[in-house]
Amino acid sequence: MKILGIGCALPPQVVINNQLEQILDTSDEWIQSRTGIRERHILSGGTVAGLALEAGQEALQDSGLTGADLDMILVTTAQGDDLFPSVSCTIQQDLGANCPCMDLHVACAGFIYALDTADAYIKSGKASHILIVSAEGLSRLSDWSDRSTCVLFGDAAGAVVVGPGEGLLSCQLSALSRRDILFGTYTGLPCPFSPPEEKVAAGIRMEGQEVFKFAVGISAADLLKAADKADIPIAQMDWVLLHQANRRIIDAVSRRLGVTPGRVPSNIHRLGNTSSASIPLLMYDLYHAGLLEPGHVLALSGFGSGMVSGACILRWDKPKPSQVKDPVHSLHFT
Ligand code: ACO
Repeated sequence: MKILGIGCALPPQVVINNQLEQILDTSDEWIQSRTGIRERHILSGGTVAGLALEAGQEALQDSGLTGADLDMILVTTAQGDDLFPSVSCTIQQDLGANCPCMDLHVACAGFIYALDTADAYIKSGKASHILIVSAEGLSRLSDWSDRSTCVLFGDAAGAVVVGPGEGLLSCQLSALSRRDILFGTYTGLPCPFSPPEEKVAAGIRMEGQEVFKFAVGISAADLLKAADKADIPIAQMDWVLLHQANRRIIDAVSRRLGVTPGRVPSNIHRLGNTSSASIPLLMYDLYHAGLLEPGHVLALSGFGSGMVSGACILRWDKPKPSQVKDPVHSLHFT
């Protein structure tokens, strides 16, 4: 497969670190120095499906296709607005599509798993054009009294349309059962036949330092394996796009791999951790900054709760956009 179109959507409400100081025992200095995050977008009044639709519509328009051309819609999300129907089904009609729809639940590695899934469908001849949307509303799952987690996350959606091509050079996926270090939970309605168990509080729980160590190790290992499969050394990658979990994770992976300086873009300062949406959003920013050129080789790496992880090597094929969007989509580079 190859990428034909790209889109994104951000909820309008921006929450800066100083606003969090009003509701939590935290500080802008602590958050920026430990995570690199300055602000994040928060869904307020909107829906995850609404973000997914907006990002999907932009990606479709950018690809020059219409919803009727789609053979499948894949959405990655930690949690849509409802348990069911899926987000992909919810947005299908408004996209003007009439194709199978499914949501993939692979936490922050969702976009990489979706690229690999789409590639398999296209290679097998079962599909030609697939819309992938990674849409997240983690602010709704966060425990806003837990300063160690709620400051990290932001809401957003990123989308790509893929079609037949030679863009995905290699992919490396993995998963490991480790619920103990990172999980999100929510309480359902009580059932009269269930045992009177202790109520589990809703929210995201994390052993931050364990997740940090896992993320750095698995991301570096995945990227090396994917690069090896593609037979392109990491040092020759034009861009390395890492899941935007934490600025210090991004810097540690870059150091461990010895990536050429200036090749690891980051937008976590503006968006926080947007889970599976973070890699397509970063790709969007790089593209719209006019920095992605046809023939560029990109290494992508996502990792998250599960613990799941995935990396892939992509050859970019799209021409530069006619107009560069800046400074709204500003990037930092490691
Ligand atoms: N503001 C102020 N103080 C805080 C905050 C906050 N928001 N959060 C925690 N602290 C305090 C803690 O209570 C603790 O205080 P204490 O020493 O009095 O007990 C102190 O800061 C140090 O806590 P640590 O958890 O040791 O802080 P650490 O330096 O490890 O930083 C962090 C925490 C940023 C979460 C770090 O562990 C990390 O980056 N982990 C990686 C996990 C991650 O990025 N997850 C993202 C989601 S998962 C994913 O996408 C893969």
